[in-house]
Amino acid sequence: MTFGASCCCSLLLLSWAFGQTSITGGDRSPCQRCDLQLSCDCSHSGFSHVPMVTDQALRLDLSFNNITTITRDDLKGLSRLVALDLHGNRLSSIHPSAFDSLWSLEELDLSDNRLTVLDPRWFSELGALQQLNLLNNPYSRLGSSPLFEGLVRLRILEFGGPVQEELKTGDLKGVTQLDRLTVRANNLIRYERGTLAEIWPLGGVTLNLHRPFLTDPALVSAVLNDVLSPETHLTLEDVHLTSKIPAQVFRDTHINRIRYMSFRNVTISDESVVDFLTAINGSPLTSLSIDGLTVTGEGRWTRANWTDLRSMDEFLVRNLVLQDVFTFFLIGNLYFLVQNQRKLSFINSQLFLLSCYSTRLMKEVQYLDMSDNLLTDLTLGYMLCDGEETLPELRVLNISGNNLKSLPTISRLAARLTKLTHLDISRSGYSSMPPSCAWPATLRHLNISSAKLTTTTPCLSTSLEVLDLSNNDLRSFTVTLPLLRELHLSGNKFLKFPDGRLFPNLQTLAIWVGNKSVLTLRLLPASAFLNVWSRSSFQSNTLNLFGRSDLQSYRRLDKLQAGQNKFICSCDFVGFLQSLLKGGGDATLTDKEDSYRCDSPLYLQGESVSTVHLSILECHQLLFVSVSCGVALLLGSLLCVLLWRLHVFWYLKMIWAWLKAKRSSQQRQRRRNDEESEALISFDAFVSYNDRDASWVENFLVPELEEPSSDSLQPLTLCLHKRDFLPGRWIEDNIMSAIERSRRTVFVLSENFVRSAWCRYELDFSHFHLFDAGGDAAILILLEPMTKDDVPKRFCKLRKLMSSTTYLEWPGEEAQREEFWRSLRNALRGE
Ligand SMILES: *[C@@H]1O[C@H](CO)[C@@H](O)[C@H](O)[C@H]1NC(C)=O
Ligand SMILES: *[C@@H]1O[C@H](CO)[C@@H](O)[C@H](O)[C@H]1NC(C)=O
Ligand SMILES: *[C@@H]1O[C@H](CO)[C@@H](O)[C@H](O)[C@H]1NC(C)=O
Ligand SMILES: *[C@@H]1O[C@H](CO)[C@@H](O)[C@H](O)[C@H]1NC(C)=O
Ligand SMILES: *[C@@H]1O[C@H](CO)[C@@H](O)[C@H](O)[C@H]1NC(C)=O
Ligand SMILES: *[C@@H]1O[C@H](CO)[C@@H](O)[C@H](O)[C@H]1NC(C)=O
Repeated sequence: MTFGASCCCSLLLLSWAFGQTSITGGDRSPCQRCDLQLSCDCSHSGFSHVPMVTDQALRLDLSFNNITTITRDDLKGLSRLVALDLHGNRLSSIHPSAFDSLWSLEELDLSDNRLTVLDPRWFSELGALQQLNLLNNPYSRLGSSPLFEGLVRLRILEFGGPVQEELKTGDLKGVTQLDRLTVRANNLIRYERGTLAEIWPLGGVTLNLHRPFLTDPALVSAVLNDVLSPETHLTLEDVHLTSKIPAQVFRDTHINRIRYMSFRNVTISDESVVDFLTAINGSPLTSLSIDGLTVTGEGRWTRANWTDLRSMDEFLVRNLVLQDVFTFFLIGNLYFLVQNQRKLSFINSQLFLLSCYSTRLMKEVQYLDMSDNLLTDLTLGYMLCDGEETLPELRVLNISGNNLKSLPTISRLAARLTKLTHLDISRSGYSSMPPSCAWPATLRHLNISSAKLTTTTPCLSTSLEVLDLSNNDLRSFTVTLPLLRELHLSGNKFLKFPDGRLFPNLQTLAIWVGNKSVLTLRLLPASAFLNVWSRSSFQSNTLNLFGRSDLQSYRRLDKLQAGQNKFICSCDFVGFLQSLLKGGGDATLTDKEDSYRCDSPLYLQGESVSTVHLSILECHQLLFVSVSCGVALLLGSLLCVLLWRLHVFWYLKMIWAWLKAKRSSQQRQRRRNDEESEALISFDAFVSYNDRDASWVENFLVPELEEPSSDSLQPLTLCLHKRDFLPGRWIEDNIMSAIERSRRTVFVLSENFVRSAWCRYELDFSHFHLFDAGGDAAILILLEPMTKDDVPKRFCKLRKLMSSTTYLEWPGEEAQREEFWRSLRNALRGE
């Protein structure tokens, strides 16, 4: 089934199901916030029941609603569902079969609800489940029978709550291998040894045993001893280590076996530090990280200066709070803590000074992260020994988010760090760039994002491969960086798109402008230009042009990130972007399809560019107009040809002439009625003939009929248009009056007639017909033998006349002509 069809189907199903529930009185409202990936975000919507969603849904987020129960049928039919998030509801009851149809479910989150009892039947059909979160519910134990027995694919398990009191053997039956286990049972009272021991391998364990740490160290030791293995990454949360009792835990456990350890939210006294350090003396611990460290003491830790921490490769402290910051002897006495690590981080730790002495001890350090502290240009100078030799192995220096203002200072200090490759000086106060700088030759990555730079200068080292200048106030970019592979320029105020020739090796470019300005890419049809609109909230609009040639000037570009901008969805832009999204074109877009949304025209606002369909009319206006004109022209010409072929023009002309003649004949009639005196008949016959037959008329007909003849009868008077028509009058009128004033009309027909002068003839016929329909008023003379069928069909009057009136044929032989003339005379005289 195609996507469209399935979508349609599910809509149908949805409306059907909706109809059903409203009939049965249920009040399940629908949730239609599903995106293109069939991920439905129905969180924070105040639902008190599971809403209706499409059967096709793959992910369903119902977190932070007010759902209290899940009935047997609430989730029926969602057999494709992979992830279900019910975090943060008020769930207190779930039907035992509620999840039975979720065969594909891999992630289930039931945390932060009000489940007091956990039912093994919920999970009996969830054979595909990999992640289960049961945290923070008010159950006191996991259940009477093993909960997780059927979950053979389970890899991430989180459970525990504020009132969980016991964990006993068998609770985790069936769970044999986990990537991550989280137990937050900060009020645990009973723990049966071995409960967590069966799980192997166990990738990461997070334990929150806050109360037991304070009150029952034996229980904590039992738990720790069950989970500690060299490969397990241990995380302890919410630990309060200020008295003697908890520190004992470290002595009673095999804490010295593990390699990776983290603390989160720990409060620690000087004594506990010493105990802990003593406990890990000589241990293979390679990574220690502490996020949220509150130190209550004064840093009197030298009692532990003999401990062997040589294997500790990485030490991270983030969010350090020193309760007694003024008496604290920081690193000065504590150098033993930092002289072995290759990776050191003191992040967001209120550090304002690190002495040259201490950094000189950090002989091994390759990665130093001092971001989000209180360093200034001055104290940074002390720390880096004012440009003297220090930190000989340093590769990465991160001093992002400090009070640094002088780019020349950091460049001068960094110049002595001869192995430095990465320098992060982002989120700082740098506002101007000196004309030149002295970076170490090894520098490859430079991050000066979120500063206040307005210009770029050759201060930027030509050795750079990755440069982040996003979120500055840059208006142009003019420096050549031959080795640059990756350039981040989002969130600036570019008036001109940087020329790609500056970066012959650039592969990745990020240039969305976010809220600060409006960047619009548009392809103009004629010039095939890519337009960039850039508008900052402080400036009036500025139009930038970025031609296809410019895009081509980025010869190696293969990743472009330009989403989040306010796009004008012109046809060309939509076409261009859709082809990029489909992977056509040189560069691929690395951000999500959804981040490309139209801002204008108004009726497309907010729509994803990838789904916009513009009609042909909108997209090819010029083409459309020209094609329709062309078609109209062609049809017109065809019609003309057709009309001409059917002699329609001839017919029109005839009708017109006929009408005109009829009118003038009526006028004449009236005039005649007024003046009775005028003698009407003055000719015996009007002769209608083609000019090509004039010779016959003049040489034979006129002499024969108008000369006094032998039989002493009166000669006949003939009316010939050449001779008797009044000059200056309209020919029609002449014909009319000629016919009216003649007793008979003689038509001379010949081959010429077929070829030409159709009109005159037919006119004559019509007029003739006007006054005397049929009868013997018309006399036809055929100069050449012909039949009715030789006459074209449209001369219908003549054809009619030929069939109703006998005609005289002009004989070829001299002898028969006497007879012809006699017949003609007789006909004319009406005998
Ligand atoms: C849930 O319901 C309670 C009262 O029943 C109400 O105060 C609260 O605002 C609701 N929460 C949401 C997210 O609608
Ligand atoms: C840190 O742990 C203490 C108990 O030691 C607890 O009261 C506090 O809420 C925790 N803080 C955070 C942010 O988790
Ligand atoms: C530890 O510190 C004491 C002074 O407090 C000092 O005498 C001793 O030499 C130090 N030991 C080591 C191994 O640094
Ligand atoms: C430097 O620290 C900041 C904030 O902690 C972080 O975002 C950035 O990625 C770090 N830079 C490097 C190069 O590690
Ligand atoms: C530059 O620093 C910012 C802020 O610290 C960070 O978010 C960004 O990821 C860094 N850029 C690169 C390319 O690492
Ligand atoms: C843009 O601004 C809106 C409010 O005007 C804010 O909600 C949104 O987070 C901002 N987006 C970015 C990417 O800064």
